[in-house]
Amino acid sequence: MRSLLGSSPLPPNEARILMAHVLKKHYQLSRSALLSRDDMALDAEALKEWQSLENKRSEGEPIAYLLGKRGFHNIELYVAPGVLIPRPETELLVEIGLNEIARLDCTSDSQPQLLDLGTGSGAIALAIAHAAPQALVTATDQSAEALEIAKINLKELGLEERVRLIPGSWYEPLDQLGFDIILSNPPYIAGQDPHLNQGDLRFEPISALTDHATGLTCLESIISGAKEHLNPNGLIAVEHGFDQSEAVISLMKAAGLREVKAHLDLAGHHRVASGRK
Ligand SMILES: C[S@@+](CC[C@H](N)C(=O)[O-])C[C@H]1O[C@@H](n2cnc3c(N)ncnc32)[C@H](O)[C@@H]1O
Repeated sequence: MRSLLGSSPLPPNEARILMAHVLKKHYQLSRSALLSRDDMALDAEALKEWQSLENKRSEGEPIAYLLGKRGFHNIELYVAPGVLIPRPETELLVEIGLNEIARLDCTSDSQPQLLDLGTGSGAIALAIAHAAPQALVTATDQSAEALEIAKINLKELGLEERVRLIPGSWYEPLDQLGFDIILSNPPYIAGQDPHLNQGDLRFEPISALTDHATGLTCLESIISGAKEHLNPNGLIAVEHGFDQSEAVISLMKAAGLREVKAHLDLAGHHRVASGRK
């Protein structure tokens, strides 16, 4: 194992993560085994898997897809090439949702109703339902593949009773108005953005990344439908690109929302905008 790690073309931390995955799968060994048993030889099957993972990673395949999982907020999600890999910056939307749920609890006994538009792996919907046992969550996505993955995560986390997954485009499949909170991390990369051909993005579903236009069309659909689907004083918060804050704030004001605000992520960029009905 030591010689495999030493001769790997991968950055050492990535090689260790992938080796730990092989050890766990083939020998049920924990990550610390890498330190204590680094002279251990891999059997033929484990070696084949290591070589396959090393090759795929060398070709740029995201680590999360190779491991089949990604940590997000306080949960672990199954991820596969049919869904966007949840990003740490999206945890800001989860925090905004949880703060609003806490605020609603001060004034009402009823269960807060939350809508997650474009749920992908279920990241936002499931992180909120996991952290706020009083919340009732509806999540939509137009990708059948994404919803299959979200369903696996929903079951794994035991949240079937409080999270509904609905196929369809944005608000269109909903049989309900009157949400307290709407959250969304929609595709917001412009169709011509060269980042689509770089890094992890090359491996993620294109329909999760871009609207094939200006990057603002999905945000516009979501924002323009918010007032109709929110309860009085309900909150909508959406994630957007680092250079889209002004445009998204204008869309929210034009949609007649109040208390429109830009929120900073940990890196100091405006990546989320919110408004109230
Ligand atoms: C950027 S990904 C976000 C996934 C997940 N919410 C997250 O934060 O990791 C956008 C998601 O929106 C979905 N989507 C794209 N167009 C849609 C539409 N018209 N209606 C519903 N979902 C859509 C994609 O399938 C994808 O899962």
